[in-house]
This record gives sequence, structure tokens and C-alpha cells, in this order.
Amino acid sequence: MELKTIKTLDIQGKKVLVRVDFNVPLDEQGKVADDTRIVATLPTIEYLLDKGAKVILMSHLGRPKGKVVEKLRLSDVARRLGELLGTNVSKVDDCIGPEAAKAVESLKQGEVLLLENLRFHPEEEKNDPEFARGLASLADLYVNDAFGTAHRAQASTHGVIRFAPVAAGGPLLMAELDALDKALAKPARPLLAIVAGSKVSTKLELLSSLVGKVDQLIVGGGIANTFIAAEGHGVGKSLVENDLLDTARKIEADAKARGAEIPLPTDVVVAPAFAADAPATIKAVDAVGADDMILDIGPQTAAQYAELIAKAGTVVWNGPVGVFEFDAFGKGTEALAKAIASSKAFSIAGGGDTLAAVDKYGIAKEVSYISTGGGAFLEFLEGKTLPAVAALEARGQ
Ligand code: 3PG
Repeated sequence: MELKTIKTLDIQGKKVLVRVDFNVPLDEQGKVADDTRIVATLPTIEYLLDKGAKVILMSHLGRPKGKVVEKLRLSDVARRLGELLGTNVSKVDDCIGPEAAKAVESLKQGEVLLLENLRFHPEEEKNDPEFARGLASLADLYVNDAFGTAHRAQASTHGVIRFAPVAAGGPLLMAELDALDKALAKPARPLLAIVAGSKVSTKLELLSSLVGKVDQLIVGGGIANTFIAAEGHGVGKSLVENDLLDTARKIEADAKARGAEIPLPTDVVVAPAFAADAPATIKAVDAVGADDMILDIGPQTAAQYAELIAKAGTVVWNGPVGVFEFDAFGKGTEALAKAIASSKAFSIAGGGDTLAAVDKYGIAKEVSYISTGGGAFLEFLEGKTLPAVAALEARGQ
């Protein structure tokens, strides 16, 4: 990866503007409900402080659509970050203009300032050059450490790179790119991907891209139902996309043509309704009735998949294979999570639901790399160029 990194920069006494992704979930009181993305940036911030920088952080939060939305202020994020760093993090109520400039000017070496939500200004999402220039002018150095937003070409992630005196990739961004590169560009074989979710249509690009790279592709959720139906089995009342049966058959054929496998469930867990207390019944995949809904893979399938995971050299995981939020339909996802945890494979997991499953089954320490990216993780897996990374590459070493 031809990016300038912060390890090569002279940081002492410099104002360093860091684009982070603090787009974290908030609870009903407006408090940070999950601080994973904040925790992930701590090594970067601590490194910069240690080297004597004045650290200026900027992020978006939610989708305020270019207007100030009180509940999307970054105040509680600043509070939580301060707690985690064990130091005061000051916060200013704008990200640009005189107020922000004044706060930056009063910043001393070893201090941290968080700017207000970038998306309160419509220019951020429009990648407005003047806005980007204004952000760049706040500091001596710009660092992009926001992997989670690297798929967005916005002023703070993309436009700013052209105007900043110096632009570099941050350690979190680099670590994410390295891990994804290890999983996809030079994977230890066999490379196994788990792609699950409600619809083939929303993950079509991902499935089409991965089928050209993997040795095994495990599909789950509504996606698996469409593949099961494409094989000619009944899926009852399950979530299925009947207009994509040919697409599923084509993906199967593409896999076969290159000697890869898409192993489909041999048994499933069904229920008469989508509910936590609905009775769960294990059935062979060819015995699903007209009133059944498939809500998980069955134990035989889970054991077969676990065996494949045990033999894999690399595992890429995106999506739970059943409705794991309901315990009765979470056993398949739990079995795969445990198999990933005990496998020697290099494993990488990403996406909101996947991380919730990693958390629920307590395997975070056993997964080799957990991505902070949702959309960015998917777009990388789809083989797309991430605009923020491309812009940093264009500025070169
Ligand atoms: C994410 O959570 O995927 C990133 O923070 C990007 O947010 P966005 O989808 O609102 O651009």
C-alpha cells in the first residue's frame, strides 16, 4: 500500500487534524451505546500525544443532512473519549469557521480537541472544495484514520487530502487495509467466506465478487433460502427472492466452474412465525412445509460448516446465518462463531450484525481481526476502490 503513514512524520508541536469515524450508536438518553469505534482510535491518539502533537479530531455522527440536529452533537463522544484517554477532551460547537479556528489556536501540545459533527454542514457530504480547504487550513498535518467512512468521497475524507499541507493514513486505517489485504489478496488457502443476510439483492455484488476468489462460500439467512429454492426445494413462508433464482443458479455455476463450493444446508430450523417464542423444529431441507419459515441452519449443517471452517486457512465473515437475536434460532450462528474461535485460520469479521454476534457469543478475542467498517468493509470485499484510500494513494509517499 503506497500511503504515507504517520510513523514517518515529524509531529512534535504540530497541529494534527485526524479524521476518525466516531459514528457510534447512541442510546435514548443520547449517551454512547457502543464505544468500539472510539476505543479503536485510542492507539492513534495516544501515539500522537506521545510525540507531542496538538490533536484535533473530526467525525460525522448519524445523518443530520446538512443541518444542526441537537441529538447528533458529538458532546457525549468527547466525554467518553476523555474517560478512555484519562484526559480532558475539549469540544467546540462547530467544525469550521472562527469558533473552530479559535479553539484550535488555543490548543496546547498534548491536548485533544474534538470538532462538532461535520455533517451539520451540507458541504461535507457534497465534498465541497472550499469547505475541504477550510478544514485543511486548521492544521499542519492531516491524518485519515476513518476506515469506516473510507467508502465516502466527502470533504473530510477525500476533498481535504488535496489541500492539506501533508496527508497520511492513520494506524487504524492501515491496519484495516492490511487485514483485508491479507484475507483477500494473499489469503492462506482454503479461503472460506460466510455471507449471510436477508436478501441476495443487497449482497449481490459481494457474492459475485467473492465467488471469483473463495474456495468455499457459505451463504446464510434469506440469501441461503433463495439458493435453497433455486435447487428446487420448497421454502414455505421463508424470506426468499423468487426473481433471483436464476442469479443464485449462476453464482452456483460460477463457483463450480472454478472448483469452488457453495455448500447448502441439509437441515434447517423452522418455525410457524417470526417470533422469539415461536416453536423451533429441525427439518431436513427437503421436508420444509408450506407454513414453515426457515430461521436458522440445522445442527447437521452447522457441524458440516464447522468442519470446513476448521480446515480453512482464511475465514471472512459477514452476516449471521440465522435469526440469532432469538436464542432458539441462534444455534447455527453460535456454532459457526465457536468454530471460527477455535480455528487456526486468519479470520476477519465485519458488519453491524456480525459484530453483534461476535459479541453475543464472546469470541472477540479469538477473531484475528474485527473491522470497524460496515459499508466500507463490504465495499472493500466487493473489490471496489475506497475513495479516501485512493486520494491518499494519489498524494503518494
Ligand atoms: C458507517 O457507519 O458505515 C460509516 O460511519 C459511514 O456512515 P454513513 O453510511 O452515514 O456514510
